[in-house]
Parts: sequence; C-alpha cells; structure tokens
Amino acid sequence: MVKLAWLNGVFLAADEARISPFDRGFLFADGVYEVTAVYDGRLIDLDLHLDRLERSLRELGFPTPPDRGEIAAVHRRLIVDNDIREGYIYLQVTRGAYGARDFAAPAIVRPTCFAFAEAKSLINTVAAREGLNIITTPDIRWARRDIKSTGLLAQALAKTQARNAGVDDAWMVGPDGFVTEGASANAWIVNQDGDIVTRELSSTILAGVTRARLSSALSDAGLRLQQRAFTLEEAVAAREAFSTSATALVAPVVRIDGLAIGSGRPGPVTRRLQGLYFSAIGADPARDAPWLFQES
Ligand code: PDD
Repeated sequence: MVKLAWLNGVFLAADEARISPFDRGFLFADGVYEVTAVYDGRLIDLDLHLDRLERSLRELGFPTPPDRGEIAAVHRRLIVDNDIREGYIYLQVTRGAYGARDFAAPAIVRPTCFAFAEAKSLINTVAAREGLNIITTPDIRWARRDIKSTGLLAQALAKTQARNAGVDDAWMVGPDGFVTEGASANAWIVNQDGDIVTRELSSTILAGVTRARLSSALSDAGLRLQQRAFTLEEAVAAREAFSTSATALVAPVVRIDGLAIGSGRPGPVTRRLQGLYFSAIGADPARDAPWLFQES
C-alpha cells in the first residue's frame, strides 16, 4: 500500500514528498516535532501533544503556530487513509527554506510542515511483555531539552550505541550522576521503599505526554509519585524501572548496564502501571495484555 503523507497542506505519497536542501530543518535542525500514539484508530492525547508543539514553537520564536484544527484534521485523515489501528502520527514543523544558508532566522517565517503515519504495535510488544535491556550514556545534549527539537543527534548516537551493544535502548546520565531521561522516553524507578520516582519537569528533560497521563492515572488510583532526580546508582539498586513514551507507552526496564533490576523481570508495580495506562487510553488489559496478569 502506498503510504500517504502530508506536506505543506497537500496529501501525497510519502516517497513523493520533496523538501528543499536549504530548509532550515536540514541545515540547522531548526524545527520541532511531535509523535502522537494511535490506539484503536484513535489519537491518544493529541491536545497535549499540540499544546507542547505550540510551546516548543513559541520557545524558538516562531510567530504563529500552524492552525490547530487543520493539524488535527490531518492527523485524523492520515489514520483513516493509511488504515492505522495501532501506531503513531509523526508531525514536524521547521522554519522553512529561504534559498541561502543564514544562521540568523528570518523575520517572516514560511514554515515547512510535514506529517506521516506508521502502523506499529504499541501494547502487545516484546518490550512491554519482557522488558528492556538498556545501557546508559553520558547526556551530551543542549540545555533546552524541554523543547522537542529535531536536533536529535545525541539521542540517535545513544540508540546506535545501544544497538551496537546488543541491547534495546539507552538512558542518559548527566555529569552529576543523575539520570536525565531515556534517549526517546522518560525514565522512572520504583525504589527500595516502594516509591515511584521520576525526574521533576525542568529544561533538563522533555515533559512527556505519556508521563503526564500516567501521573494522573496513578494519582487517580491513589498511588503517590515522587518527582525528583535520581542517580544511576539509585536506579541500579531500584526494585523496578521503566520508560514512558508515545511509541513504547509504559515499557519495563529489566537490565541497566548489564545489571538486573530487581528480579530481572518486569515487577508488580510496573505491571500495575501498565494496566492503569492501558485502561486510561481505552484499552482492555484483560483482552489486549493478558500477560499483565501472569506471575512475573
Ligand atoms: N520521543 N524524552 C525524550 C527525549 C523523548 O524523545 C520522548 C518522546 C519522551 C517521551 O515523551 P512522550 O511521552 O510525549 O512521547 C521523553 C518520541 C516518542 C520520539 O522521539 O519518537
């Protein structure tokens, strides 16, 4: 099937989309993006993603964001025309092309807007069932990680290093020894006291939409969350660890740098939080994730 994409107001076959080599997204990574999960043909938390997109654009000084109603309609059409039941929609907005390479941004912005859809299992995945084996890498990124910038070289290198090491993913650690976040996910632990801990929001991490949704689901369930930084040492000594993102939802982390976390299997708190999150997005854990109820 031809994959349908959307570029600057036009729906077209994805491999026919053409962008100028002078696009500032290409020359300077002068752009931002969002990845919104699709479950059962529905967009998960699109409003939160569009809020974050608009914030990222504001922080980069874009005068006006793309029309929200149009972007939402594009997302919905990409789901229908690409027949996506489970997967995600990728949206990127750059400052556009101006026929020259000039570091300073133009006063009048003609953005490039691009979106495509990808079918992908999100709930019944090996990662969700078995957990992730991860390495850690130094966090070498810029200081504004709250902006969802397309400047992803550090994350791409971290994930390449993970793949070359034969593991699934990477978490990044600052020079102070504190975990910042995953290469494309927020990082969480359940410590030896049973506290659920994830780093507080600041410019050191991305304010994850999955993180926000899981935080409210767990507080609705009467569980408490500690929002504070934790060290790599604390993570390795934790009972459980997991990552959250739009593309892996709530994914147990069972090994960090070769060391088993807890029993080395997804733990009971992570299983409970996966169930809470799956229910929060309208899935039926008993039907869609029966493995949640098996002994770990
Ligand atoms: N990444 N932190 C980083 C650095 C991320 O890149 C992501 C998401 C997250 C989690 O955010 P959310 O829950 O809103 O997906 C945290 C997306 C999935 C990506 O780059 O593909």
